[in-house]
Amino acid sequence: MTSLRIPGAVDPHVHLRDLEWSHKATVERETAAALAGGYWAVLDMPNTPPPATTRARLDERSAAFAARARCDFGLYLGADQGGNQGEYGAAAGAAVGLKMYCDETTGDLFIRESDERRAHVSAWKAASDKPIAVHAEGATLAAVLALAVELRSRVHFCHVSAADEVELLRQAKRDGAFISVAVTPHHLYLTQDDAARLGPYGRVKPLLKSSSDVAALWAGIADGTVDVIESDHAPHTRAEKESPAPPYGLPGLETTIPLMVLALREGRVSEERLVELLATNAQRLFRLQPPNGTYTLIDVDASYVITDDTLLTSPGWSPYSGMRVWGRVREVRIRGQLAFDGEDVLCSPGCGTDLAWS
Ligand code: NCD
Ligand code: ZN
Repeated sequence: MTSLRIPGAVDPHVHLRDLEWSHKATVERETAAALAGGYWAVLDMPNTPPPATTRARLDERSAAFAARARCDFGLYLGADQGGNQGEYGAAAGAAVGLKMYCDETTGDLFIRESDERRAHVSAWKAASDKPIAVHAEGATLAAVLALAVELRSRVHFCHVSAADEVELLRQAKRDGAFISVAVTPHHLYLTQDDAARLGPYGRVKPLLKSSSDVAALWAGIADGTVDVIESDHAPHTRAEKESPAPPYGLPGLETTIPLMVLALREGRVSEERLVELLATNAQRLFRLQPPNGTYTLIDVDASYVITDDTLLTSPGWSPYSGMRVWGRVREVRIRGQLAFDGEDVLCSPGCGTDLAWS
Protein backbone atom coordinates (compact mmCIF):
# COMPACT_ATOMS: atom_id res chain seq x y z
CA MET A 1 0.00 0.00 0.00
CA THR A 2 1.17 3.52 -0.74
CA SER A 3 0.49 5.35 2.44
CA LEU A 4 -0.07 9.06 2.92
CA ARG A 5 0.59 10.35 6.43
CA ILE A 6 -1.30 13.46 7.51
CA PRO A 7 -0.14 15.02 10.77
CA GLY A 8 -3.32 16.05 12.62
CA ALA A 9 -5.97 16.52 9.91
CA VAL A 10 -8.34 19.39 10.76
CA ASP A 11 -11.72 20.18 9.25
CA PRO A 12 -12.19 23.86 10.11
CA HIS A 13 -15.84 24.12 9.05
CA VAL A 14 -18.26 21.57 10.47
CA HIS A 15 -21.80 21.79 11.85
CA LEU A 16 -21.92 19.12 14.57
CA ARG A 17 -25.49 20.23 15.50
CA ASP A 18 -26.81 18.48 18.69
CA LEU A 19 -28.29 20.58 21.55
CA GLU A 20 -31.69 21.62 20.15
CA TRP A 21 -30.87 20.12 16.75
CA SER A 22 -30.02 16.58 17.84
CA HIS A 23 -32.71 15.34 15.42
CA LYS A 24 -30.40 16.49 12.58
CA ALA A 25 -27.20 15.09 14.07
CA THR A 26 -25.57 14.18 17.37
CA VAL A 27 -22.08 15.02 18.52
CA GLU A 28 -21.41 11.34 19.31
CA ARG A 29 -22.23 10.30 15.77
CA GLU A 30 -20.74 13.20 13.86
CA THR A 31 -17.43 12.93 15.70
CA ALA A 32 -17.41 9.18 14.90
CA ALA A 33 -17.92 10.21 11.25
CA ALA A 34 -15.05 12.69 11.61
CA LEU A 35 -12.69 9.92 12.77
CA ALA A 36 -13.85 7.56 10.01
CA GLY A 37 -13.30 10.47 7.62
CA GLY A 38 -9.68 10.74 8.79
CA TYR A 39 -9.80 13.80 11.05
CA TRP A 40 -8.13 14.55 14.35
CA ALA A 41 -10.16 17.70 14.99
CA VAL A 42 -13.20 19.57 13.75
CA LEU A 43 -14.14 23.22 14.27
CA ASP A 44 -17.83 23.62 14.97
CA MET A 45 -20.03 26.42 13.65
CA PRO A 46 -22.33 28.44 15.96
CA ASN A 47 -25.63 28.47 14.00
CA THR A 48 -27.34 25.65 15.91
CA PRO A 49 -30.03 26.76 18.40
CA PRO A 50 -29.33 28.17 20.89
CA PRO A 51 -26.67 29.96 18.78
CA ALA A 52 -23.21 30.20 20.36
CA THR A 53 -23.16 33.97 20.71
CA THR A 54 -22.18 34.48 24.36
CA ARG A 55 -19.51 33.17 26.70
CA ALA A 56 -22.16 31.34 28.71
CA ARG A 57 -23.48 29.59 25.59
CA LEU A 58 -19.95 28.63 24.53
CA ASP A 59 -19.31 27.17 27.99
CA GLU A 60 -22.56 25.22 27.86
CA ARG A 61 -21.71 23.94 24.39
CA SER A 62 -18.13 23.09 25.36
CA ALA A 63 -19.25 21.06 28.39
CA ALA A 64 -21.90 19.17 26.37
CA PHE A 65 -19.49 18.47 23.52
CA ALA A 66 -16.63 17.43 25.81
CA ALA A 67 -18.90 14.73 27.27
CA ARG A 68 -19.96 13.47 23.82
CA ALA A 69 -17.09 14.06 21.38
CA ARG A 70 -14.87 11.24 20.16
CA CYS A 71 -12.36 13.50 18.39
CA ASP A 72 -10.91 16.88 19.40
CA PHE A 73 -12.93 19.97 18.59
CA GLY A 74 -12.99 23.75 18.69
CA LEU A 75 -15.96 26.11 18.80
CA TYR A 76 -16.62 29.31 16.90
CA LEU A 77 -18.39 32.21 18.57
CA GLY A 78 -21.17 33.67 16.39
CA ALA A 79 -21.56 37.37 15.58
CA ASP A 80 -25.13 38.24 16.61
CA GLN A 81 -27.27 40.76 14.74
CA GLY A 82 -28.53 41.90 18.17
CA GLY A 83 -25.00 43.17 18.90
CA ASN A 84 -22.92 40.82 21.11
CA GLN A 85 -19.61 42.68 20.81
CA GLY A 86 -19.69 43.21 24.59
CA GLU A 87 -19.10 39.42 24.91
CA TYR A 88 -15.98 39.33 22.78
CA GLY A 89 -13.45 40.04 25.53
CA ALA A 90 -14.83 37.26 27.72
CA ALA A 91 -15.60 34.79 24.93
CA ALA A 92 -12.51 34.98 22.67
CA GLY A 93 -10.45 32.66 24.89
CA ALA A 94 -13.12 29.95 24.67
CA ALA A 95 -13.44 30.09 20.87
CA VAL A 96 -11.20 29.24 17.91
CA GLY A 97 -12.46 32.34 16.11
CA LEU A 98 -15.53 34.41 15.32
CA LYS A 99 -18.04 33.36 12.64
CA MET A 100 -19.85 36.16 10.87
CA TYR A 101 -22.68 35.30 8.47
CA CYS A 102 -22.98 38.14 5.95
CA ASP A 103 -25.31 36.27 3.60
CA GLU A 104 -28.42 34.33 4.50
CA THR A 105 -28.21 30.59 5.17
CA THR A 106 -29.41 27.92 7.61
CA GLY A 107 -29.95 29.28 11.15
CA ASP A 108 -30.74 32.84 12.09
CA LEU A 109 -27.36 34.51 12.46
CA PHE A 110 -27.13 37.21 9.78
CA ILE A 111 -25.16 40.47 9.86
CA ARG A 112 -26.83 42.31 7.05
CA GLU A 113 -25.65 45.93 7.16
CA SER A 114 -22.14 47.16 6.42
CA ASP A 115 -21.96 49.35 9.55
CA GLU A 116 -22.92 46.33 11.68
CA ARG A 117 -20.15 44.31 10.01
CA ARG A 118 -17.65 47.06 10.70
CA ALA A 119 -18.67 47.16 14.38
CA HIS A 120 -18.21 43.37 14.72
CA VAL A 121 -14.89 43.24 12.86
CA SER A 122 -13.34 46.11 14.83
CA ALA A 123 -14.62 44.82 18.18
CA TRP A 124 -13.23 41.33 17.49
CA LYS A 125 -9.88 42.79 16.42
CA ALA A 126 -9.68 44.70 19.71
CA ALA A 127 -10.54 41.53 21.68
CA SER A 128 -8.51 38.84 19.89
CA ASP A 129 -6.05 38.11 17.11
CA LYS A 130 -7.89 34.89 16.24
CA PRO A 131 -9.49 34.81 12.77
CA ILE A 132 -12.97 35.89 11.73
CA ALA A 133 -14.47 33.21 9.50
CA VAL A 134 -16.89 34.87 7.12
CA HIS A 135 -19.73 33.64 4.93
CA ALA A 136 -19.89 36.26 2.16
CA GLU A 137 -20.67 35.85 -1.53
CA GLY A 138 -20.31 38.06 -4.59
CA ALA A 139 -20.67 41.78 -3.84
CA THR A 140 -20.85 41.01 -0.10
CA LEU A 141 -17.50 39.21 -0.33
CA ALA A 142 -15.96 42.24 -2.08
CA ALA A 143 -17.30 44.54 0.66
CA VAL A 144 -16.03 42.34 3.50
CA LEU A 145 -12.65 42.03 1.78
CA ALA A 146 -12.38 45.83 1.55
CA LEU A 147 -13.23 46.06 5.26
CA ALA A 148 -10.63 43.41 6.15
CA VAL A 149 -7.96 45.30 4.20
CA GLU A 150 -8.91 48.67 5.71
CA LEU A 151 -9.00 47.37 9.30
CA ARG A 152 -6.00 45.03 8.78
CA SER A 153 -8.13 42.25 10.16
CA ARG A 154 -7.55 38.47 9.92
CA VAL A 155 -10.49 37.33 7.85
CA HIS A 156 -10.95 33.74 6.71
CA PHE A 157 -13.28 33.44 3.71
CA CYS A 158 -15.39 30.27 4.00
CA HIS A 159 -16.59 28.12 1.09
CA VAL A 160 -15.45 30.40 -1.75
CA SER A 161 -17.27 29.18 -4.84
CA ALA A 162 -17.06 31.61 -7.79
CA ALA A 163 -14.30 32.47 -10.29
CA ASP A 164 -14.53 36.25 -9.72
CA GLU A 165 -14.30 35.73 -5.94
CA VAL A 166 -11.12 33.64 -6.34
CA GLU A 167 -9.58 36.37 -8.49
CA LEU A 168 -10.38 39.14 -5.98
CA LEU A 169 -8.92 37.12 -3.12
CA ARG A 170 -5.83 36.20 -5.15
CA GLN A 171 -5.11 39.88 -5.82
CA ALA A 172 -5.72 40.85 -2.19
CA LYS A 173 -3.30 38.17 -0.99
CA ARG A 174 -0.69 39.43 -3.48
CA ASP A 175 -1.23 42.90 -2.03
CA GLY A 176 -0.48 41.58 1.46
CA ALA A 177 -3.97 41.31 3.06
CA PHE A 178 -4.06 39.05 6.18
CA ILE A 179 -6.73 36.85 4.69
CA SER A 180 -7.18 33.14 4.13
CA VAL A 181 -9.36 31.17 1.76
CA ALA A 182 -11.32 27.94 2.14
CA VAL A 183 -12.98 25.80 -0.51
CA THR A 184 -15.30 22.80 -0.11
CA PRO A 185 -15.20 19.52 -2.06
CA HIS A 186 -18.78 20.04 -3.27
CA HIS A 187 -17.79 23.26 -5.01
CA LEU A 188 -14.80 21.42 -6.53
CA TYR A 189 -16.70 18.36 -7.73
CA LEU A 190 -20.34 19.36 -8.28
CA THR A 191 -21.90 21.93 -10.60
CA GLN A 192 -25.32 23.41 -11.21
CA ASP A 193 -26.01 20.40 -13.45
CA ASP A 194 -25.57 18.18 -10.41
CA ALA A 195 -27.82 20.53 -8.43
CA ALA A 196 -30.56 19.89 -11.00
CA ARG A 197 -29.96 16.12 -10.82
CA LEU A 198 -29.77 15.98 -7.00
CA GLY A 199 -32.71 18.28 -6.24
CA PRO A 200 -32.83 19.02 -2.48
CA TYR A 201 -29.76 16.81 -1.93
CA GLY A 202 -27.67 19.29 -3.93
CA ARG A 203 -29.14 22.35 -2.23
CA VAL A 204 -26.35 24.16 -0.39
CA LYS A 205 -25.13 27.68 0.31
CA PRO A 206 -23.22 28.97 -1.58
CA LEU A 207 -25.15 27.39 -4.47
CA LEU A 208 -23.31 24.99 -6.79
CA LYS A 209 -21.86 26.89 -9.74
CA SER A 210 -20.67 26.40 -13.33
CA SER A 211 -17.79 24.30 -14.63
CA SER A 212 -15.73 27.47 -15.23
CA ASP A 213 -16.14 28.39 -11.56
CA VAL A 214 -15.02 24.87 -10.67
CA ALA A 215 -11.93 25.30 -12.90
CA ALA A 216 -11.11 28.61 -11.16
CA LEU A 217 -11.25 26.93 -7.74
CA TRP A 218 -8.81 24.21 -8.89
CA ALA A 219 -6.53 26.95 -10.27
CA GLY A 220 -6.69 28.64 -6.86
CA ILE A 221 -5.62 25.38 -5.25
CA ALA A 222 -2.73 25.02 -7.69
CA ASP A 223 -1.35 28.54 -7.20
CA GLY A 224 -1.77 28.76 -3.41
CA THR A 225 -4.71 31.19 -3.33
CA VAL A 226 -6.71 28.50 -1.51
CA ASP A 227 -5.36 27.72 1.98
CA VAL A 228 -7.69 25.02 3.27
CA ILE A 229 -10.21 22.41 2.23
CA GLU A 230 -13.22 22.41 4.55
CA SER A 231 -16.19 20.06 4.33
CA ASP A 232 -18.87 22.52 5.55
CA HIS A 233 -20.43 19.30 6.86
CA ALA A 234 -24.03 20.44 7.37
CA PRO A 235 -26.30 17.48 8.18
CA HIS A 236 -30.05 17.64 7.57
CA THR A 237 -32.45 14.69 7.72
CA ARG A 238 -33.92 13.11 4.60
CA ALA A 239 -37.39 14.19 5.78
CA GLU A 240 -36.22 17.81 5.94
CA LYS A 241 -34.60 17.56 2.52
CA GLU A 242 -37.82 16.06 1.10
CA SER A 243 -39.98 18.83 2.62
CA PRO A 244 -41.49 21.68 0.54
CA ALA A 245 -38.78 24.13 1.70
CA PRO A 246 -35.66 21.98 2.04
CA PRO A 247 -32.86 23.50 4.13
CA TYR A 248 -29.44 24.30 2.66
CA GLY A 249 -26.49 22.09 3.54
CA LEU A 250 -24.76 18.79 2.70
CA PRO A 251 -22.89 16.23 4.80
CA GLY A 252 -19.21 15.81 3.91
CA LEU A 253 -17.05 14.62 6.80
CA GLU A 254 -16.49 11.11 5.43
CA THR A 255 -16.09 12.07 1.76
CA THR A 256 -13.72 15.06 1.85
CA ILE A 257 -10.41 13.24 2.22
CA PRO A 258 -11.27 10.53 -0.36
CA LEU A 259 -12.33 13.23 -2.85
CA MET A 260 -9.03 15.03 -2.28
CA VAL A 261 -7.08 11.77 -2.68
CA LEU A 262 -8.95 11.35 -5.97
CA ALA A 263 -7.54 14.78 -6.90
CA LEU A 264 -4.07 13.53 -5.94
CA ARG A 265 -4.49 10.44 -8.14
CA GLU A 266 -5.65 12.64 -11.01
CA GLY A 267 -2.58 14.87 -10.64
CA ARG A 268 -4.55 17.99 -9.67
CA VAL A 269 -2.71 18.39 -6.38
CA SER A 270 0.61 17.19 -4.94
CA GLU A 271 1.00 15.19 -1.72
CA GLU A 272 2.76 18.08 -0.07
CA ARG A 273 0.00 20.51 -0.97
CA LEU A 274 -2.66 18.06 0.19
CA VAL A 275 -1.12 17.92 3.67
CA GLU A 276 -1.14 21.72 3.80
CA LEU A 277 -4.79 21.91 2.65
CA LEU A 278 -6.07 19.21 5.01
CA ALA A 279 -3.95 19.82 8.09
CA THR A 280 -1.04 22.20 8.50
CA ASN A 281 -2.59 25.39 7.08
CA ALA A 282 -5.67 25.12 9.32
CA GLN A 283 -3.38 24.35 12.29
CA ARG A 284 -1.42 27.53 11.58
CA LEU A 285 -4.45 29.76 10.91
CA PHE A 286 -6.39 28.61 13.98
CA ARG A 287 -3.26 28.03 16.15
CA LEU A 288 -3.92 24.38 16.81
CA GLN A 289 -1.10 22.15 17.95
CA PRO A 290 -1.70 18.47 17.27
CA PRO A 291 -0.75 16.47 20.38
CA ASN A 292 2.18 14.04 20.12
CA GLY A 293 1.19 10.81 18.39
CA THR A 294 -1.62 12.39 16.37
CA TYR A 295 -1.78 11.46 12.70
CA THR A 296 -3.83 9.83 9.95
CA LEU A 297 -2.66 7.11 7.57
CA ILE A 298 -4.38 6.80 4.21
CA ASP A 299 -4.01 4.03 1.67
CA VAL A 300 -3.98 6.08 -1.51
CA ASP A 301 -4.12 2.95 -3.71
CA ALA A 302 -7.48 1.81 -2.38
CA SER A 303 -10.47 2.71 -4.50
CA TYR A 304 -14.13 2.36 -3.61
CA VAL A 305 -17.62 3.59 -4.42
CA ILE A 306 -19.31 5.89 -1.90
CA THR A 307 -22.63 4.45 -0.72
CA ASP A 308 -25.18 5.84 1.75
CA ASP A 309 -25.26 2.71 3.88
CA THR A 310 -21.57 2.78 4.82
CA LEU A 311 -21.63 6.33 6.17
CA LEU A 312 -21.64 6.94 9.92
CA THR A 313 -23.01 10.50 9.75
CA SER A 314 -26.50 10.91 11.25
CA PRO A 315 -28.53 11.72 8.11
CA GLY A 316 -27.15 8.69 6.23
CA TRP A 317 -27.06 10.20 2.75
CA SER A 318 -24.41 11.76 0.55
CA PRO A 319 -24.55 13.81 -2.65
CA TYR A 320 -21.64 11.63 -3.89
CA SER A 321 -23.45 8.31 -3.53
CA GLY A 322 -22.41 6.08 -6.45
CA MET A 323 -19.16 7.97 -7.12
CA ARG A 324 -15.81 6.15 -7.23
CA VAL A 325 -13.09 7.73 -5.09
CA TRP A 326 -9.61 6.84 -3.89
CA GLY A 327 -8.04 6.78 -0.45
CA ARG A 328 -9.10 4.55 2.42
CA VAL A 329 -8.47 5.90 5.90
CA ARG A 330 -6.56 3.02 7.56
CA GLU A 331 -5.63 4.56 10.88
CA VAL A 332 -6.31 7.69 12.94
CA ARG A 333 -4.24 8.15 16.08
CA ILE A 334 -4.83 10.83 18.68
CA ARG A 335 -2.35 11.21 21.56
CA GLY A 336 -0.89 7.85 20.52
CA GLN A 337 -4.24 6.07 20.92
CA LEU A 338 -5.79 4.27 17.97
CA ALA A 339 -9.04 6.20 17.41
CA PHE A 340 -10.05 4.55 14.11
CA ASP A 341 -8.52 1.35 12.75
CA GLY A 342 -9.91 1.44 9.22
CA GLU A 343 -13.04 -0.48 10.25
CA ASP A 344 -14.21 0.66 13.65
CA VAL A 345 -14.22 3.85 15.67
CA LEU A 346 -12.39 3.00 18.88
CA CYS A 347 -12.76 6.26 20.83
CA SER A 348 -15.81 6.54 23.02
CA PRO A 349 -17.77 9.73 23.71
CA GLY A 350 -15.76 11.94 26.03
CA CYS A 351 -12.36 11.15 24.41
CA GLY A 352 -12.44 14.49 22.59
CA THR A 353 -10.98 17.67 24.04
CA ASP A 354 -12.00 21.28 23.46
CA LEU A 355 -8.89 22.71 21.80
CA ALA A 356 -9.46 26.12 23.38
CA TRP A 357 -8.44 24.59 26.71
CA SER A 358 -5.79 22.06 25.70
C1 NCD B 1 -25.08 25.38 6.56
C2 NCD B 1 -25.97 24.73 7.62
O1 NCD B 1 -26.81 23.91 7.27
O2 NCD B 1 -25.79 25.01 8.81
N1 NCD B 1 -25.71 25.26 5.27
C3 NCD B 1 -25.10 25.37 4.06
O3 NCD B 1 -25.83 25.35 3.06
N2 NCD B 1 -23.80 25.46 3.93
C4 NCD B 1 -24.80 26.81 6.92
C5 NCD B 1 -23.67 27.44 6.15
O4 NCD B 1 -22.50 27.10 6.34
O5 NCD B 1 -23.94 28.31 5.31
ZN1 ZN C 1 -21.28 26.07 7.13
